[in-house]
Amino acid sequence: MGLLMQIRPKPLAAWALAACLLPSAAAGSPSSNVAWTVETHRLVQRADSKIGAKLETIETEETYACTACHGPAGATPDRDRYPTLAGQVAAYTYKQLRDYKDGKHENRRMQAAVERLTDEQLAALSAWYASQPLPVVDVNEEDEISPATVRLIYRGDKKRLIQPCASCHGRWGQGAIIDVPAIAGQNVPYFVDTMRDYASGKRANDVYSRMRIIAAALTREEIEELAVYYARLGNKISSGGLKQANAE
Ligand code: HEC
Ligand code: HEC
Repeated sequence: MGLLMQIRPKPLAAWALAACLLPSAAAGSPSSNVAWTVETHRLVQRADSKIGAKLETIETEETYACTACHGPAGATPDRDRYPTLAGQVAAYTYKQLRDYKDGKHENRRMQAAVERLTDEQLAALSAWYASQPLPVVDVNEEDEISPATVRLIYRGDKKRLIQPCASCHGRWGQGAIIDVPAIAGQNVPYFVDTMRDYASGKRANDVYSRMRIIAAALTREEIEELAVYYARLGNKISSGGLKQANAE
């Protein structure tokens, strides 16, 4: 992290260079094998969430059930570093599950969990989580968010070539079409961890390095504040407080 921060992107040239270098750092292979063809879209759109609801409880000799770690319906946010899955964009979840299965996003526990599942089953799980309401997550009410961090979310930072988070993740952090995840309502320790993994390149399954470049340009404090901001935003949405959120 320290090293990455010293090489703050200067003008466009530095950004373009980083964009070229990062994907090839992963042994010259693409960051994901998922291609958003008509077939892939259909697979995700037509998936049966009821099948997903059954699949998440199945335990085998090799692996625990999804619910053992993520909670029923992917909504147990209190376990450190385990992402919440409820309310997530289906296409994003599908891409992540495929990336774990293909070894594009290395994680021993997740690889073991999805190894045995077909693409249809991964799509069914994604549809199931997408159909669930956002969970309420634990967040320290005393943590303050600086105005500079809020600016970063809605206006970005031209000097560091950071696009506003909201321009991709949406005004409410609700995610967007294809593979942009909902980040509102994400558990704070996981959010911080995964941003650090993008920054160090340990997580490299983001197509076009969209997140690796941004995460590497952020400070640790900014990442922590962003995580708290989005956790609170999710809690406002899940408690029906969208209007209050809008006023801020
Ligand atoms: C032994 C615990 C464990 C089990 C069992 C498990 N997971 Fe996970 N899951 C994790 C952890 C830890 C992560 C975060 C890994 C990382 O940082 O990449 C994760 C990440 C994920 C993600 C990525 C979320 C995101 O926001 O990017 C999805 C989707 C997911 N799991 C779904 C599932 C499904 C579906 C199953 C069952 C088939 C399952 N998990 C089983 C622990 C588990
Ligand atoms: C250019 C579009 C874009 C911008 C701008 C952007 N993101 Fe992302 N973000 C993405 C995409 C696409 C992914 C999913 C990448 C993947 O497949 O791993 C993602 C993933 C993430 C994740 C991981 C979610 C999870 O469940 O694992 C977090 C956290 C995140 N972004 C936070 C942010 C924050 C905070 C900002 C602003 C500082 C931001 N993003 C700006 C496109 C963007």
